[in-house]
Amino acid sequence: MKTRRDVLRDSAALAVSCALPAALIGSALAQPQDEIARQLDVPYVPTPMTVVDAMLDLAKVTKSDVVYDLGCGDGRIVVRAATRFGCRGVGVDLNPERVKEAKANAIRANVAELARFEVGDVFDFDFSGATVVTMYLLPSVNLKLRPRLQKELKPGTRLVSHDFHMDDWKAETVRDVGRSRIYLWTIR
Ligand SMILES: C[S@@+](CC[C@H](N)C(=O)[O-])C[C@H]1O[C@@H](n2cnc3c(N)ncnc32)[C@H](O)[C@@H]1O
Repeated sequence: MKTRRDVLRDSAALAVSCALPAALIGSALAQPQDEIARQLDVPYVPTPMTVVDAMLDLAKVTKSDVVYDLGCGDGRIVVRAATRFGCRGVGVDLNPERVKEAKANAIRANVAELARFEVGDVFDFDFSGATVVTMYLLPSVNLKLRPRLQKELKPGTRLVSHDFHMDDWKAETVRDVGRSRIYLWTIR
């Protein structure tokens, strides 16, 4: 049986190899493409809430943190961090539909004053204000972001990735949560 990790890899590989419009690729990539600035680098596959909580625990999030989720989807990680810990958070996603959902979810959870969501590209986005960064992207995207993460994040910032590692940047902790694997690095 395919794991979420396989679904994410397969749909991304299909998108790249076929260079088809996202709408033709299947449900995981069925986005209103005309509203998106360019082809998504990663399809939308939400992190299960048990894994969201494990990611926040692994990063030891507290009220004084600022949690950035790069490719935030429906905003669940930032909204959950604000709800559980009362901390601020920022989510960015290339897909305006996702950002709309994220804002609505923050309002529904009564944390709209703590959670900010923006339409944007992770490759241009200023994430230097983060003290915790979460990502559920793809290995190639992680590696493309890695030089900026290492250069622009402040020392002490914790970085947690769902399912995908960073090649020879060895994670300090790796934890399995159900069918997911989560990785933690701290910026030095
Ligand atoms: C696998 S989903 C993860 C969603 C959320 N972080 C979670 O864990 O539930 C990846 C998200 O990245 C977004 N995305 C893809 N390419 C992006 C890019 N270049 N910049 C910003 N967001 C992007 C997609 O729209 C999608 O919502």
